[in-house]
Amino acid sequence: MRIKILELLTEENFVSGENLAKKLNVSRTAIWKQIKILQKYGYKIETVKNKGYRLISRPDIPIFEEITERLNTTIIGKKIFYFKTIDSTNIYAKKLAKNGVEEGTIVVSEIQNSGRGRKNRSWSSPKGGLWFSVILYPNIPPQKAMLVTMTSSVAVAQGITETTGLTPVIKWPNDVLIDNKKVCGILTELDAEMDKINYSVVGIGINVNNVIDNNLKDTATSLSKQTKANISRVKLLRSIIKNFDKNYSKLIDKDYNSIRKNWLSCSNIIGKRVQITDEKSVVDGLVTDVDDNGCLIVNTSKENVRVVSGDLTILL
Ligand code: BTN
Repeated sequence: MRIKILELLTEENFVSGENLAKKLNVSRTAIWKQIKILQKYGYKIETVKNKGYRLISRPDIPIFEEITERLNTTIIGKKIFYFKTIDSTNIYAKKLAKNGVEEGTIVVSEIQNSGRGRKNRSWSSPKGGLWFSVILYPNIPPQKAMLVTMTSSVAVAQGITETTGLTPVIKWPNDVLIDNKKVCGILTELDAEMDKINYSVVGIGINVNNVIDNNLKDTATSLSKQTKANISRVKLLRSIIKNFDKNYSKLIDKDYNSIRKNWLSCSNIIGKRVQITDEKSVVDGLVTDVDDNGCLIVNTSKENVRVVSGDLTILL
């Protein structure tokens, strides 16, 4: 009913409560209750005696019905949980996943008080950014789990290009960069057994209109900084959801090579001399390929090494 009320308020200047009630076949009190809820969500709706209701403005992150309106996706974004503040969308999403919420459900928050990045690092999540998590139950072997993150980073890169015209580059495994600075990070958390993924929560953090912390200024950027304009987070989220849905269908159809190819088309890693470090090892060499598990194939002076995870630095 809320989306209908918004539609009617968008079409006309003032609409009386009586008129809304008639068109939606409900009582005027029911309309009034919905108007109150919309106002709570940040819709500015004025009420004038003898004239009715008038929509003055919408919030940047509107109710999920508006985000998902006519999206026509098959899996992603059919249900959205929206918060003004949360500890971490990934924490909430994991609870939902454990309770078996519908696949493709999204948790989005304006602010995260305890946003987390890879390796348990903290993730700055002030107002103006896009912080969200997607819940998935991919029916693929656990060794292919990295492809879920790759699918997501491609969707983010495509969404950014569609919304802003910018051309981001994906840095293995899952950072999205513009001008060599990080604009998006992805934290995928997995619950899996030997032969089965129970759930995968993909946490996506994009610097959109938020201010970048001083200590991150050399390594991070935002979309508004790059375009010198305020970016609609709704348009961006809608575009990412659509692209995510398209790419994820390929993944669950086990078309792994398409995922790999799409990822490669957004990355410039092939032919680069790199160093990859993790807790136990350091690999130095030339990147020759990415396999269809998402692992990097690195040619050191002695052999070809398959790298599953680690922090990558491009060497000059
Ligand atoms: C990284 O270290 O690059 C990954 C950062 C992931 C941040 C996102 S923001 C939404 C979701 N909730 C979190 O707490 N983290 C992820």
